[in-house]
Amino acid sequence: MVGDQSKLSIYGKDFDYSVIKGTVGPDVIDIRKLYGQTGAFTFDPGFTSTAACESALTYIDGDEGVLLHRGYPIGQLAENSNYMETCYLLLNGELPSAAELKDFSWTISRHTMLHEQLMSFYSGFRRDAHPMAIMCGVVGALSAFYHDSTDIADPDHRRISSHRLVAKMPTIAAAAYKYSLGQPFMYPDNKLSYTGNFLRMTFGVPAEEYEVNPVIEKAMDRIFILHADHEQNASTSTVRLAGSSGANPFACIAAGIACLWGPAHGGANEAALNMLREIGTPDKIPHYIERAKDKNDPFRLMGFGHRVYKNYDPRATVMQQTLREVFAAMKVTDPLFDTALKLEELALSDPYFIEKKLFPNVDFYSGIILSAIGFPTTMFTVLFALARTVGWVAQWNEMISDPAQKIGRPRQLYTGPTERDYVAIDKR
Ligand code: SDX
Repeated sequence: MVGDQSKLSIYGKDFDYSVIKGTVGPDVIDIRKLYGQTGAFTFDPGFTSTAACESALTYIDGDEGVLLHRGYPIGQLAENSNYMETCYLLLNGELPSAAELKDFSWTISRHTMLHEQLMSFYSGFRRDAHPMAIMCGVVGALSAFYHDSTDIADPDHRRISSHRLVAKMPTIAAAAYKYSLGQPFMYPDNKLSYTGNFLRMTFGVPAEEYEVNPVIEKAMDRIFILHADHEQNASTSTVRLAGSSGANPFACIAAGIACLWGPAHGGANEAALNMLREIGTPDKIPHYIERAKDKNDPFRLMGFGHRVYKNYDPRATVMQQTLREVFAAMKVTDPLFDTALKLEELALSDPYFIEKKLFPNVDFYSGIILSAIGFPTTMFTVLFALARTVGWVAQWNEMISDPAQKIGRPRQLYTGPTERDYVAIDKR
């Protein structure tokens, strides 16, 4: 919806730009003509004030702690929905009927197995390879096995590759974990739910029946929902940028996995648990809070802060509640939970964190639950990638279907040397 016209005065001249209104959230100023009219670029490293695209998938209000997927609040989805239904919602725009959900779940289950040749990829990695390195390699290689669904101009190919990616990520992730243990891979069991199937492939062994614990299954499914999509975060923007060149969806998702791995992004859940282990007991917290505030110390409180949430991250709230449920049901405790609660309390009462609006994000508590469920720390970001695949795929589909989409090609502020002549080496 085009709103008012805005006037920008640049170099003493007035230029008119349209203000475009979304259904909710900040307006955007359409500056697509700016360079042609003024010869100047905007400058926005990190895209703190830049809308890179139009999207109807997810909306975040960082001040109010709001996260909506196709309009539905994350708290309601976490409470009432399940991951398969949330996948359908993100991919199709509406909540499914019971029949639609049954059909979608059946379709996904048809794609849970990997090409047997792909399973031999794992033996090329060291047993102690980080599972995110394996994910980057194996997902990137999918296009070598499923090139019958890589024509991005064909909606059927886009649909099949989308389903393949959502369906195969649990199998790929579980196999990475099994490989690190030297245990045999477990084939999918399509009698189980999406999440139950993942838990069995991860923790089951061929030597005995695996009983899915319904409490763990529900907690894991909710954790997948919490990580499903999140507007134009770094890894989603990576997927969109890769996809804007026409790259196949498997390559684009592999690019997203690589970006997610960074400790400032999806790697923060692994870093946050390692930080809590390093802190150890609550009495050590003040020292680490001081380190986090020290500009000369690279240490940051992992799991705190967010580019968009300047109040609380609604996912962190649900994550903490899920943690309490899992601990109560499993009759487990973890002293790190007490340390995490104390760290949150002390940080949120510290003027530095209050002034910079640094609150726990989705990664702060997730590691404690995942550790209690039995995952090693190195698997945490793999689980984030597994859950986020549906968001990446939905965003990729939205971009490909957007008539306005073009190859992404940002410009720059050049501060290097002006033109100069080559000097022969004996003259330097
Ligand atoms: C995810 O974008 C998404 O939606 C991501 C995500 C998703 O679902 O896709 O939500 C998932 O990535 C969550 C964030 C996980 N990362 C971490 O927990 C790592 C720790 N957090 C920081 O690295 C940081 O808060 C970021 C990267 C999350 C946000 O960085 P910004 O928006 O670029 O903010 P900034 O780095 O400019 O920080 C603003 C100020 C700085 O101080 P000044 O330079 O203004 O003096 O706050 C400080 C920072 O030094 N600061 C912190 C801090 N985070 C920011 N100080 C101490 N500890 C921290 N954690």
